[in-house]
Formats: sequence, C-alpha cells, structure tokens
Amino acid sequence: MRVSLKQVTKAYHQNSLVLKNLNLDLAEGGFLFVAGDSGAGKTSLLKLIVGEEFPTSGTVTCGGIRLIEGAGSSLQIRKRIGVVHQDYRLMKERTVFENVAIPLFFGRHGRSTKPLNFMGSAALRLTEEVLQSLGLSTKLLDAKVKELSGGEQQRIAIARALINKPDLLVADEPTGSLDHDHTWTVMDLFQKLNIQGMTVIVATHDRDIIRKVRKPTLHLSAGSVRVDERDGACIF
Ligand SMILES: Nc1ncnc2c1ncn2[C@@H]1O[C@H](COP(=O)(O)OP(=O)(O)OP(=O)(O)O)[C@@H](O)[C@H]1O
Ligand SMILES: [Mg+2]
Repeated sequence: MRVSLKQVTKAYHQNSLVLKNLNLDLAEGGFLFVAGDSGAGKTSLLKLIVGEEFPTSGTVTCGGIRLIEGAGSSLQIRKRIGVVHQDYRLMKERTVFENVAIPLFFGRHGRSTKPLNFMGSAALRLTEEVLQSLGLSTKLLDAKVKELSGGEQQRIAIARALINKPDLLVADEPTGSLDHDHTWTVMDLFQKLNIQGMTVIVATHDRDIIRKVRKPTLHLSAGSVRVDERDGACIF
C-alpha cells in the first residue's frame, strides 16, 4: 500500500511542533525505518499514517485514499493496515487466541474481504500459523495474556497485526522487549512478508537492526528530518 505525506505538520499544543513540513512517499511494497531519539515524534508519525491522529496541516494518503477524521473510506483503509502499538494494547484478561484472532472477525483483507467465523477451525489454524511464525508455542493459545512474559506479549501484538495479511504493516518499536534471537525471528519475518508484497514501516531505536537490514531510514529529530535512502524505495 502506497503511503504519502505532503507538508505534514503536527502540533498537540499551540507553539510546540512535533512534526514540521514532513514529505514522504513510500511506494507500494516498500520498507521504511523510522528512527530518532525518545520524543522525536516516531509514534506521532505512525499514528498519523494509521489514522489514529490527524495532521494539524498537510495531508496523509494511504492506498490512494486521503485519511480524514470520521470518513468511511478511511475506516476501510484502516482494515487493510496491521498495527503493532508501542504499548501493545492487548486485552490482558483475555486469551492469546481471543487477542490474536479478533481481526478475523472484522473481515479479512489482503486476499479476501469476508469475515471468518471466530469460532471456526479456519480461525484456529490461522492463529496457530501466525504464532508459530513468531516462535510462539501453540500451547499458549488458551493462556491469558496477563500470564505471559513481556517478550511473549509483544509477539502476541505482532501476531494480531499480521493475522489478516495486511497490505501495510506499521510497527512501533516491535522488538523493544525481545532478546536477540527473537528480534531476528521478527525482523526476518517482516522482510519475508515485504518480499511477498507487504509494505512495512518500523519505528525503532535499535541501530543494529537498521544497520543490518539496510532499508531507507527516516531520522526524526525535534521536528526536522534527515533521510538515508537505500534501494530507491522512497522519495522525500
Ligand atoms: N497525545 C499527546 N498529547 C500531547 N503531546 C503528545 C501526545 N503524544 C505525544 N506527544 C508529545 O509529542 C512528542 C513526540 O512524542 P512521540 O511519542 O511521538 O515520540 P517518540 O519518538 O515515539 O518517543 P519514544 O521513542 O519515547 O517512543 C513528545 O514531546 C510527546 O510529549
Ligand atoms: Mg514512540
């Protein structure tokens, strides 16, 4: 899914700009890292791209649709985006299966737009597959999320974002609680899905990941932007 930002400025309060005149054009099938110190605006940028926040001025377009607060077309686009929130946003009292499978209930996107039966065997099979792809045991399916470790919870949040085979994955610090091996299980999976056509945006503090994966990187710092372009996947 193509993502374009034109002259985007974001201010939560009157004279404090978080993002200033940001232009970004990420082609369909592209891969972008968003880097920058704590408070630089990485989460704010990702929230604008998934329509959780809206720009103070400028435009955000995903899949050819301009995101506008309350517009039905924006909600349709949102169903084609998988989001990993920095704070996971899991239902902690619910089971792993309930957390991971819930997007299926709202309609699959990517290959089909038909909602799956939440209780059916297809939902269970898809949930097992995505857990295994992230190195999680299917024995966890009936465990409550609150009983899991931080790293397991983070991978449950990633599983939920991926289960619908989204056209765009937006992941905010998706490896922040993971050890080295699990970090690379996740990053290798993201790269494999990207090769298969999924557009990927990852915010990370982890310079090691950015150095090794070698993709275009947007560096945010106090409202300004520096770009390392690689592979020509994006134009600023
Ligand atoms: N809802 C909000 N209301 C007011 N200010 C906000 C809000 N969200 C973020 N900010 C401010 O915007 C700035 C950027 O925050 P943001 O969370 O985007 O940074 P970040 O780069 O993701 O940081 P971190 O690496 O710590 O996650 C911060 O100064 C923050 O206080
Ligand atoms: Mg953040």
